[in-house]
Amino acid sequence: MRWGPSSLCLFAASAGCGLETASEADPRTDALQGRAFFERDCAACHGADGKGGGTASLGLGVAPPDLTRFTKLNDGVFPRDRIMSTIDGFNRQTHWENPMPVFGDESLGAVVQIEENGISTPVPADLLALATYLESIQE
Ligand code: HEC
Repeated sequence: MRWGPSSLCLFAASAGCGLETASEADPRTDALQGRAFFERDCAACHGADGKGGGTASLGLGVAPPDLTRFTKLNDGVFPRDRIMSTIDGFNRQTHWENPMPVFGDESLGAVVQIEENGISTPVPADLLALATYLESIQE
């Protein structure tokens, strides 16, 4: 798993590590920001409501899935780390012939630290914003 404790900055986080800490109120990573990214980069395929059926998905071969059902399908817990890894391409298999573009680290904005179970992990801000937005549209 990519967002785990193998991070180089793990122990240096409190000492700065040259990175900023994201709080829940950070406007760079909140759902509103994520929504803006979603409309720009994702809605064409996944639809404005995230349920699939965007016009660019026509003729893709693989239909973009409904993005509002992750929590329901995961026993009521939004699988944030898995979703972030899927978006940035990290957990995709090389043989996965996926028409969805990889949104790699360079295109995902400045890196911010998130705190989870007392562990600080660096995550691209835009990726976090997208995950926060997707979490907010779960049904
Ligand atoms: C070119 C069309 C296209 C664009 C643009 C696109 N996607 Fe996708 N996405 C797909 C398709 C098709 C799949 C299904 C891939 C598969 O299952 O093989 C997918 C799968 C996913 C999944 C995995 C769902 C699961 O069940 O694990 C997530 C999460 C996701 N997309 C989020 C996003 C986000 C967030 C963006 C914008 C940053 C985005 N997608 C942009 C077409 C697209």
